Amino acid sequence: MALAGVCTLAELAASGGVHPVTIGPRELVVVRDGEHVRAVDRRCPHESFPLDLGRVERGAITCPAHGWRFDLRSGSCLTLGHDLRAYDVEVRGEVVLVDADVPATRQELDLAAESLLGALELGRPSLAARRVVRLLALGETLANAAGLLVRYGATHADVGLDVEAAVAADVVALASVIGDAGASAVLADVAAAVAERLARAAPRVPADPATPFAWHEEGVEATLASAVRHGDAEGCESLVAGMLAHGVGVVVVLHGLAPWARGSWGLAVARRAAALDEVTVRVALPVAAFGIAAERARRTGYLPGLAEADVESLLPAAVAFVTAAAAEPLGVVVPGPFDAEIAAALIAGPAETSRGLAVCLAAARAALCSDDVDVRRAVLRFLTTRRRERFVSLRSLPASPPG
Ligand code: FES
Repeated sequence: MALAGVCTLAELAASGGVHPVTIGPRELVVVRDGEHVRAVDRRCPHESFPLDLGRVERGAITCPAHGWRFDLRSGSCLTLGHDLRAYDVEVRGEVVLVDADVPATRQELDLAAESLLGALELGRPSLAARRVVRLLALGETLANAAGLLVRYGATHADVGLDVEAAVAADVVALASVIGDAGASAVLADVAAAVAERLARAAPRVPADPATPFAWHEEGVEATLASAVRHGDAEGCESLVAGMLAHGVGVVVVLHGLAPWARGSWGLAVARRAAALDEVTVRVALPVAAFGIAAERARRTGYLPGLAEADVESLLPAAVAFVTAAAAEPLGVVVPGPFDAEIAAALIAGPAETSRGLAVCLAAARAALCSDDVDVRRAVLRFLTTRRRERFVSLRSLPASPPG
């Protein structure tokens, strides 16, 4: 049992007998219940309304939003609904101590994930970043947290899967190199970028999955390649959704997309998404395919004329460049990691935003694939540097390629 002092009896009385406190990643309310002092979760499990505004009577607290009632000793819901967690409390003299050092339940993790989604929907970058950190601190796995961000991007972006999906997937791969704290910080930046870019975006309507008749004559790869070649974004999304639903493997789908999407940032993002869990793959891959075909329709190429490109078109191009640099043998001409550094440095100045940061992280990921110790050291420095200094430190990567 790890008791920690959270408030004094005087503070509890001054708050009217219901006092909100934070212990590590947990938000609680300390409640005066007659002779006793209790502690339960602060957020109502219904819609997360804060219970410090609730009414306390006869050993129970009532949520002011929709009236769910909870027993203060056990946390059990006395109306129809989910339970709260109740914590062990001890009063020593004037000090209230609470033991909140307990593993999170699945319900707690789901609630924390919902509150993250709420921050994304509200378009509040710093809140989204804090909520990712809290979710991870509660014990959610990095892969689940990253998958949640990728799925949100896939279900809300109307131009295909974007930069953040690649970075979120990369964070999972990078965790063993940059440590849990580093990974948590990077994923927080990804969440901020998603909130910023998709602020108040309505959920997109996914294409209906195609049936196997759509590819039975030409075969999977040729049918997909044809859809990409013709820039048929919706058709491509529908085909991929149908193929995955009918048991076609992810690798086969990626091979089908590759011939006409070579060098596309969308392809690089799709490959990253494919490394995540199965649910995320099924949500994300069709959307990535939509983006690949849409790119083809817009005739954006592999690093198109950097000199004339505006920042918006430069961002995806840079991502294409750096992710391809880190990528596997899909026939892409693989540039060295220093090309990735140059591409990222080009956008670092004009794009000091969360999104620009996401791109720089992708660049860093590419550089991490280098065998050169100096590059790896510089990238690690970059990843562990405070955010506003990162754009400067990125430029401290070696200026010339190894011999
Ligand atoms: S939010 Fe508490 S009852 Fe609805």
